[in-house]
Amino acid sequence: MDGDTPIEEPVVDNPTYMANIRYFFEQIDIDHMGARGKDLGTYAGVKKNALAIFAHTAPPNGDMPPEPDRKWSAARSQTFRNWILAGYPVGTAVPGPADRMALEAAPGRLRKNVTSLKPPEIDALKRRSTE
Ligand code: HEM
Repeated sequence: MDGDTPIEEPVVDNPTYMANIRYFFEQIDIDHMGARGKDLGTYAGVKKNALAIFAHTAPPNGDMPPEPDRKWSAARSQTFRNWILAGYPVGTAVPGPADRMALEAAPGRLRKNVTSLKPPEIDALKRRSTE
């Protein structure tokens, strides 16, 4: 497979700023557009500029972001449109894909059954509760 092929992201029907939209803007975008008075790094800024952002990023003629290999896909544009039409929901903080993968790979904590503890484990527990 061609390593340059972008992973096609799905259209999100009910996107929120915290779960989806904020990840559409990279630091380079925030820096360059911040210097031009367009804040792409906060909820308030993206909401305020949403229609201009939509117009400048929509394929096939969107001119932002300027790099050809970073153009928004039709799916991303549709997700952004859904977000505007839903009234710019903020949503709640959810772990990003990297954090999610790390959590899935991490061993979970196992809570032992208190009735099957061995004497040294019971001692350790007693010590801890009195320290
Ligand atoms: C997702 C990323 C980006 C979005 C949504 C975006 C959005 C926009 C918008 C809405 C405008 C019009 C501003 C206005 O009418 O006042 C604009 C203009 C501009 N942006 Fe961006 N931008 C992005 C990334 C970038 C990056 C990475 C650069 C530079 C490397 C950049 C450079 C510019 C420049 C030079 C203009 C003025 C263009 C002109 O007037 O012809 N933008 N951008």
